[in-house]
Amino acid sequence: MLSLALSLVIGGWAGWTYLQRGLSDSPAAGGAALVGGPFELVDHTGAARSEKDFLGRYSFIYFGYTFCPDVCPTALWTMSEALDSLAEAAPEKAAQVVPVFFTVDPERDTVDVLATYVESFRPGFVGLTGSLAQATAAAKAYRVFFRKVEVGEPETYLMDHSSIIYLMGPDGAYLDHFTHTAQAEDMAKQLAELIGD
Ligand code: NI
Repeated sequence: MLSLALSLVIGGWAGWTYLQRGLSDSPAAGGAALVGGPFELVDHTGAARSEKDFLGRYSFIYFGYTFCPDVCPTALWTMSEALDSLAEAAPEKAAQVVPVFFTVDPERDTVDVLATYVESFRPGFVGLTGSLAQATAAAKAYRVFFRKVEVGEPETYLMDHSSIIYLMGPDGAYLDHFTHTAQAEDMAKQLAELIGD
């Protein structure tokens, strides 16, 4: 399992450097515009969703997969805790944020699987899936890297993926990003600063 852990670390790092490179290569206007964009997916209730459905509120976004043994649940728990903390300090701000989980493993993450999964985290979490082409297009829009890693039985494969938490504004524009190792309290403070009254 050491080589697997190492490949996940390297993969995560590759995704991270890819993001940073994308941000630093940006024109004077800033790399912000390079993150985010249109998508056509289905949520955990089976309803069609596009980026337009999330306009008007802040989107707190993470790309991962339900079969992920550690990094994804950690990120989603931290996001949940940060929103709980924000809800205590500034409920009107927390009410403006929609936590969103995009899968990078639509093959296993069906609507039903996502429905069960998002229930494990903060109420209000929206799970998004779709065809492989749709999920890939969404990941690409958010500069998220992923690839399948075969281990053991065919159905027990893992997904190597970037682990970045994004905050997008009510206009759909990128505002900030965090890593899954960020502390929930720090994240909550940052959210409170970024979210208007
Ligand atoms: Ni993961």
